[in-house]
Amino acid sequence: MPQISERFKNIPVSSIRKLSPLVAPLKAQGIKIYHLNIGDPDVKTPEVMLEPLKNWQENPIRYAQAAGEPAFIQALLKYYHQLGFDFLKSNDILATIGGSEAMVMAFLAVAEVDDEILVFEPFYSNYNVGAAVSGVKLVSVTTSINNGFHLPPVGDIEAKITPRTKAILFSNPCNPTGTVYTKEEINVLVELAKKHNLFLISDEVYREYAFDNKVPVSLLSYISELPDRIIVLDSLSKRYSLCGARLGVLITLNESLMQGAIKIAQSRLSGGLIDQVIGAQLTKVSASYISAVQQEYQSRRDVLYNELVKIPGVTAYKPEGAFYVMVSLPIKDSDDFCFWFLTEFHPNNETVMLAPGSGFYTTAGMGKNEVRIAYVLKEQDLKRAVEIIKLGLEEYNK
Ligand SMILES: Cc1ncc(COP(=O)(O)O)c(C=O)c1O
Repeated sequence: MPQISERFKNIPVSSIRKLSPLVAPLKAQGIKIYHLNIGDPDVKTPEVMLEPLKNWQENPIRYAQAAGEPAFIQALLKYYHQLGFDFLKSNDILATIGGSEAMVMAFLAVAEVDDEILVFEPFYSNYNVGAAVSGVKLVSVTTSINNGFHLPPVGDIEAKITPRTKAILFSNPCNPTGTVYTKEEINVLVELAKKHNLFLISDEVYREYAFDNKVPVSLLSYISELPDRIIVLDSLSKRYSLCGARLGVLITLNESLMQGAIKIAQSRLSGGLIDQVIGAQLTKVSASYISAVQQEYQSRRDVLYNELVKIPGVTAYKPEGAFYVMVSLPIKDSDDFCFWFLTEFHPNNETVMLAPGSGFYTTAGMGKNEVRIAYVLKEQDLKRAVEIIKLGLEEYNK
């Protein structure tokens, strides 16, 4: 029997999806699951983006252009120009199959096998999978719930930089913590990148969803200082509730990096044509759509946070953006706790699905008392889900 490669066997399980096989049997038994485990919003996609589907004429459905359909790229350019990044040209933007593909391209671009990328844990757990696929090692700088998962002192970050470090990676606003980094924090990272000759990879897929009038700083605003070192990952998945359309973006002014990414794009021939025709509608989405969705997430955040911290032993930091909160619970093993909910705890034929915290860390033992909650459900459902968590904690800790 030929052996499956070690590299392949060692690909970590996505902590967001790893409980998924338990779902179908529960649903078949009529058990309602509150899905707090994944950021697949219930907010409606803008109607204007559905129009191309209703009026589809092209037959056959051909490949899209490998680097992105011109109409989609033009729409993206207009969007970034409106944000103030008018230096961007179409060659600086590559349409990818979700931000997920852009992420793997970025890892492959900056690092040789066994090189290191610095991340701030807890971080988006699929970075672990992307790193394993591209043979890169993620080296974590741990952040703490006590200061809202903001960056630790520069010395703690610098201590993790080795000759193999090639890039610093972060999401801003951050999944899973909801942290929006301040200008001062981004300045620190920019200075470190200059001093240690590193790339900076900024994952900005939640750019629009920051609360309490916070405005996340895009790394694109540093382009004149670091033209060749900046890679921005972006996506339409969350911004327009378009998760299933698989529309991502890689942005860089580094020409040789872009050439390499285009070679990968050419080898997979095309992103989705229909998806990109939908994406090209983005400039027709009204500003009021974004502000209404932003308000919706902010008020869900308030409801969820206020309910959660009423539970004895539960601590959380009020998220500043995105639509996730990392919650510390009075338990020892959140993997077991999340599994137990699905397999054993179904009050009134209902249960909750949570993402265990450990998958968002690389440091062994971290996150074992934490779970990540995505507030992509209506307020009523969030309240009920928190009630079930409270009941569950009482039962589990008996
Ligand atoms: C921080 C972050 N980056 C990237 C992605 C990838 O999203 P997609 O591939 O749907 O664009 C996600 C999805 O949850 C995310 O949370």
